[in-house]
Amino acid sequence: MPEPEPLVLDPTGSDPDAENLALRERGPATLVDILGVRAWSVSDPALLKQLLNSKDVSKDGRAHWPAFAETVPTWPLALWVAVENMFTAYGKDHSRLRRMIAPTLSARRTSVLQTDIETLVNDLLDALDRLPAGESIDLREHLAYPLPIAVIGQLMGVPPYQRAEFRTVVDNVFATHLTAEQQAANTAALYSLLDSLIDTKRVKPDEDMTSLLIATRDEEGDGSTLSDAELRDTLLLMISAGYETTVNVIDQAITTLLSEPQQLAHVQEGRCTWHDIVEETLRHNPPVKHLPLRYARTDITLPDGQTIQAGDALLASYAAANRHPALHRDADLFDAIRPTKEHLAFGHGVHFCLGAPLARLEVTTALRLFFERFPHAELATDEAELRRLPSLISNGHTTVPVRLRHRSPSEGHRTAETGDTPSHYRHPR
Ligand code: HEM
Repeated sequence: MPEPEPLVLDPTGSDPDAENLALRERGPATLVDILGVRAWSVSDPALLKQLLNSKDVSKDGRAHWPAFAETVPTWPLALWVAVENMFTAYGKDHSRLRRMIAPTLSARRTSVLQTDIETLVNDLLDALDRLPAGESIDLREHLAYPLPIAVIGQLMGVPPYQRAEFRTVVDNVFATHLTAEQQAANTAALYSLLDSLIDTKRVKPDEDMTSLLIATRDEEGDGSTLSDAELRDTLLLMISAGYETTVNVIDQAITTLLSEPQQLAHVQEGRCTWHDIVEETLRHNPPVKHLPLRYARTDITLPDGQTIQAGDALLASYAAANRHPALHRDADLFDAIRPTKEHLAFGHGVHFCLGAPLARLEVTTALRLFFERFPHAELATDEAELRRLPSLISNGHTTVPVRLRHRSPSEGHRTAETGDTPSHYRHPR
């Protein structure tokens, strides 16, 4: 049977729902063109889980993708496949690199951060509280971004003055509309920032993750535990995975809850928890739509009789899988009280997201405290007017304009700073 023409994925990510539907309609796995590279997009959840668990599928392009050397110099997404860290490692190398970070991000270690995260969120909300009532503000800028950047910045010991610079270059890693030249320049800027962070921490080590990784690297001296490239790329992974995704899940949850008030009512009236809201957001609009790339190490025959050949590239199409009818009834609907919210937003198998407990804690805390403080907030524009991020990987909006409506005096909120009833509750404007 002749292979169907690959479906060309839209690098500007303008209509992911339509694209994901087209992928599902083409079968459990289908050929796509991702910025000029041919890959199998897998959108059937059962098949995807099977492949993610299989030793016959690798993320190590250097070892298992014959097209690696010719693709990387000119492919805009080169960084996604060329980094040297757990994200692209296979087998023992993967275990070695993951083991260095896993304890820091365990559910137990993460839960200790609860109070710090609440304080960070409350500080951000206090700043919003001081804004004139009725003013439209961008919640991405004022809540969704600053929280995860502050959390990962603290864990990694990134000095505050460097965080804004990291934000720009990390955002660009996910911007799939950029050319290969623009991405190469961005990668150079990102590496220069990481080198400067490593230099700073070598001179003045602290208790943070960066200092601990540098110590691991330097103790061995010969790089047998962690090479220079692995050190730098592990930091790159932590800072990029550590916030971009979390920003987008806060963005998506707030956008949905403000445009579908009955869903917000479910949690405000006790029919579901904030955890349910977060899980349903991760299912309905996962922050990572497609995850590039994996590679078949042997020929793999699919349930529909097609064959993925050894050396072929694969794309984990998480957003399409999460709305597969085999997984959920009415999967396109956001339903906070659906009985199960199974999803693949954090991946599956050995590369399952290490930051899942931290991300869940950050998002749950941000949403809970935001809606406690501003239960009557509203979108300042039609949901249909919101512009999507230009990305086939990231799933968020360029801005989330919101008008905050403060509580009425009878609802009696007290400020975190003074314990007094804020003046704008006593004198509603
Ligand atoms: C809601 C937020 C997040 C989502 C949706 C998310 C999603 C993902 C996904 C889809 C993967 C790749 C799985 C694959 O290989 O297919 C991944 C890997 C990873 N994530 Fe996250 N992530 C989030 C937040 C975080 C945070 C906050 C951190 C760290 C502080 C983090 C650290 C990592 C790491 C280290 C990996 C690589 C694991 C490996 O390759 O073994 N993530 N994440």
